[in-house]
Amino acid sequence: MIIAPIAHSCSSDFASEVAAGLTMNPQKELPSKYLYDQLGSRLFDAICELPEYGLTRADERLLRKHAGEIAAQVPQDVLVCELGSGSGGKTRWILEALTRHRKISYFPIEISPMALTLCQRELSDIESLAIVGLEREYLDGLRHVAERRHADQAMLVLFLGSTIGNFSDPADVAFLRQVRGMLRPGDFLLLGADLQKPLANLIPAYDDALGVTAAFNLNLLSRVNRELGANFDLNAFRHEARFNAETSSIEMHLRSVRPQSVTVASAGLAVEFSEGETIWTENSHKYSLIELKQKALVAGFQVHVQWIDTEWQFAENLLVAAGEPVG
Ligand code: TRP
Repeated sequence: MIIAPIAHSCSSDFASEVAAGLTMNPQKELPSKYLYDQLGSRLFDAICELPEYGLTRADERLLRKHAGEIAAQVPQDVLVCELGSGSGGKTRWILEALTRHRKISYFPIEISPMALTLCQRELSDIESLAIVGLEREYLDGLRHVAERRHADQAMLVLFLGSTIGNFSDPADVAFLRQVRGMLRPGDFLLLGADLQKPLANLIPAYDDALGVTAAFNLNLLSRVNRELGANFDLNAFRHEARFNAETSSIEMHLRSVRPQSVTVASAGLAVEFSEGETIWTENSHKYSLIELKQKALVAGFQVHVQWIDTEWQFAENLLVAAGEPVG
């Protein structure tokens, strides 16, 4: 079953956010959530298969290896909610471990209807699992589930794939605090976070030899063309991944190769680009272990258990909601 969006996030939201981002000065931006349309979601799945992108495999390795332990930590009567399930592959292990001894309701929350459909298909064979997909933004979906659970039911929220790193500091803590605000003491948050690692591994993960990540990034411009009647020339922009040492983040940009002007019909907008100017499309923060502990604490969680993948530095953090949310 899929619960549809409250109001379909309409193209006028998209148009106004694109207009706001492209008129920013000096750094133009586009919101990364719009990367995940039907084609974008499929391209992202392809990124997860790339030899250079070790992140998803590390996440999966940890979840597979420790699924039993994770399931043993949470109360018997627990419902599972996932923020950004994607197509569901890496959640299988944990759901299988949880359903070994009980029935489980699983609520994947996704803005991409495509990913939600794939997720339900992927996990439909797991016995004792009821799947209710919510086509919502993270916090709307979580609120919906949290408000409807039984008084004695605990909650396990999954936030995997280091999506937390896509909120640049301090928005990551602010987001965790908002999640904490919807939970009760003793509820769990399983947080996947990519760790700091050598640039020689990091840059190719976001700029692969096949050009899949470039296609994923450029698809944002073609989506603006398709849905908002813009005239971006995709050959006149180049994908770029760079490391910002100050923020410990990979930044994704689209660089204009020449001076050009672009119009976005539905936003009533004409934008000028100088040669070499970029649109900033995404941020991916790389954490240290101490930083993760501190951020969890400030947001009102305690680190219950932390598992680290050593092949691709990545941490799975089982956080427990502390007595009172902070702030
Ligand atoms: N959460 C992923 C990450 O930060 C998303 C991602 C991977 C991504 N590759 C990308 C986003 C390229 C934009 C462009 O690793």
